[in-house]
Parts: sequence; structure tokens; C-alpha cells
Amino acid sequence: MFLDEFLKAASSKSKLNIVDLAKSPPDLMNSDTVTAYVKRNLKNQILSDSEKKHLEIMDKFYTQIDSADYLVLAFPIYNFFMPGLIKLWIDNVTQAGKTFTSTEYGPKGLWNGKQALVINTSGSTLKESALDFSTPYLKFIFKYWGLDEAIFQGLFALRFSGVMEEKVSEFRTQIQKIVSKWYG
Ligand SMILES: Cc1cc2nc3c(=O)[nH]c(=O)nc-3n(C[C@H](O)[C@H](O)[C@H](O)COP(=O)(O)O)c2cc1C
Repeated sequence: MFLDEFLKAASSKSKLNIVDLAKSPPDLMNSDTVTAYVKRNLKNQILSDSEKKHLEIMDKFYTQIDSADYLVLAFPIYNFFMPGLIKLWIDNVTQAGKTFTSTEYGPKGLWNGKQALVINTSGSTLKESALDFSTPYLKFIFKYWGLDEAIFQGLFALRFSGVMEEKVSEFRTQIQKIVSKWYG
């Protein structure tokens, strides 16, 4: 419902690639995947054809973001964090040598020039309260990737407030501002 506000505002202004992770899930990162990933991304070794196959899903998700200017993540807070699918997606796209690299000063993000918007809902957890483990983690991971900017919008604590029209209207205004800033 709240992602729809973004889609309504942005779909006439930009080509959107909409991915439903529940229908098109990230790789589970089993031992085949992780072995091939370590071999290719960390040890710079050539992969066999079957090893390459193990990285196809990870690379598909990586390329979707690598070729985009903007990322919008929309999800509910589950157990004070993001749903497992979102964390798994992060593990798919965060690739050594592609999303970040190591320097003598520590890791350096390679996704410069991109921006992110996170749209969250929660039942009772308040945004950036001591129990919101999602927002601080995402703020860190976006910096780790080297993103230029990350904006966090959403409707938290819906169980207390309900879906109040004034809150939805404020949310809509914020989304429209972001869409205008991004796409003109
Ligand atoms: C498995 C599960 C865990 C949840 N954990 C939390 C939580 O930790 N904090 C919270 O505020 N809401 C929690 N919720 C409520 C959802 O965040 C809430 O239903 C959702 O944000 C509202 O969006 P919806 O209209 O798509 O359900 C949880 C819901 C489910 C199904």
C-alpha cells in the first residue's frame, strides 16, 4: 500500500524495475554458492561452468542495482529487524570487489552516485528507537556500499495510531518530494 504511493508518483517519470522478493527470492547462499563466491570474489580464481551457475542469482540481483541510479526498499518490520528475505538480498548484492573493495584504510564502497529510499511499516516498533535494529543497520550498509544518500520514510507503530489519514498524507507529500528531487 505505501510502496504504491511511490509507484504512483514515479512510474510516469522513470522506468522502474519492480522486484517482489517473495516471488523471485534471493539465493539461499548455501555451501555451493558461498564456495563459488569466495573462489571468484575473494581469491580471484577462475570458475568452472557449474560453479558459475551457482552465482547466477546473486549476480542477477547485484546487476539490477549496479545498473540503477536509485534503490527503493519497501518492507514491514519483523521481529525488530528486516524480514529475512531482505537480509538475504543484502547478502546477495554485497559482493567483494563489486559492491565494496578493501583498501589499506579499510573497506571502500563502490556504489557511488546511487541513492536509496527505504519505506517501512511497523506495528508498534518506533523508528530509530532502541528496538528498531533495521534502520541503523541499513544506514551502515548503505555507507558500506558507498551510496551517496539514503532516505528513510514510512509509517511506524501502526498498531497504536492506525492508518491515520494525516500521517498517510504527510507520507505522500514526502514521497512526492523525493520523486521530484530524483526525477524532476
Ligand atoms: C512475523 C512478524 C513479525 C513482526 N514483528 C514486528 C515487530 O518486531 N515490530 C513491529 O512493530 N511490528 C511487527 N510486526 C507487524 C508488522 O510490522 C506490521 O504488520 C506491518 O508493518 C504492517 O504492514 P502490513 O499492513 O503490510 O501488515 C510483525 C509482523 C509479522 C507477521
